[in-house]
Amino acid sequence: MRLPGLLNVRALVLVLLTVSVVLVILLPFVTPTSQSWLLDRTPATTDVIDLYWVMFWIGAVILLIVEGGIIAAAVLFRQRPGHRAQQYHGNVFLEFTWTIIPAIIVLGLSAYSFRSLSALSDVEGADMVVEVTGRQWVWEFYFPQEDLRVRSEFRIPVNKKVVFEITSVDVIHSFWIPRLSGKLDAVPGRVNRIWVHALEPDVYLGQCAEFCGLNHADMLLKVHVTSEVEFATWVRTTKEEQAKRPPPEKLPEFGKQVTEQLCISCHAFEQNRRSPVAQAPNLWNYGVRGPINAPLKRLKDSGAQDWLERWVKNAPGIKPGIVMPRFEGILTEIQVEGVVAYLKTLGKPAP
Ligand code: CUA
Repeated sequence: MRLPGLLNVRALVLVLLTVSVVLVILLPFVTPTSQSWLLDRTPATTDVIDLYWVMFWIGAVILLIVEGGIIAAAVLFRQRPGHRAQQYHGNVFLEFTWTIIPAIIVLGLSAYSFRSLSALSDVEGADMVVEVTGRQWVWEFYFPQEDLRVRSEFRIPVNKKVVFEITSVDVIHSFWIPRLSGKLDAVPGRVNRIWVHALEPDVYLGQCAEFCGLNHADMLLKVHVTSEVEFATWVRTTKEEQAKRPPPEKLPEFGKQVTEQLCISCHAFEQNRRSPVAQAPNLWNYGVRGPINAPLKRLKDSGAQDWLERWVKNAPGIKPGIVMPRFEGILTEIQVEGVVAYLKTLGKPAP
């Protein structure tokens, strides 16, 4: 079929196909994003990048041979005046060849992958350990040597081997800082380990790489790789910040900030708004309405002054099977007090 002008459809399709293949291969390099993992080599990732390129080029050669063969056969042996298209069945030599060669390639790549995998999981000789906990939908980081707990954003020193001990409290998440490490699943009841060794001070972005519920896309993280001195300063100032006790009149405001970091991934706090998680009640008037479920009502009616503190710290201990996780050890005492103070103001007229 001819188009008006010079081009015919076949040539157009061929050109578009070629351009798209070239773009697919080139674009990651001409427009690297902050999470492009192929360009930064670190001791922890270099093996994986090598493995990627070996697989890529083997795949590219196979693609050329197979697609080239198909195109050549279609063109050379097509039915046309003076040539009859024919069908062939069975060729022992060919069938052996195209079974044995892929088998050798797959076995070779498996062996190579195992080698890269063992490099990724070589967590011996860590300079620093960070405990990572995935929960719907935030990453938490605990620095045992420093006794520091933070969420979503943290620092590590440059040029150190940092081992992440990864677990989850609810569903399976996947921990991934593309420019620093491979992916590793965060599995409830298990600790998986992965290491990083950043060579350049920079901000590295990461994310949960496994669909883990409605707000999966918000489960982001940010790592600032800094000098050791800056890291130590950050630890000190963050701990000072966390230890600050707000004056009693500021407690609800302080608690509100905590809920905005944590509770809003499940609960709504405004009237006529739907909670992100269907089972999580809207809390807009909790201060007036009080406990919503029977076990908590009973606890309050029993006269326990700290019923709401106990609930925030360990809801599953009061109502087994509830979706809400334990926050004991996740929130500091003062954060729990703040959240409770804030919850008790909800729905009441401002003083
Ligand atoms: Cu956590 Cu997706």
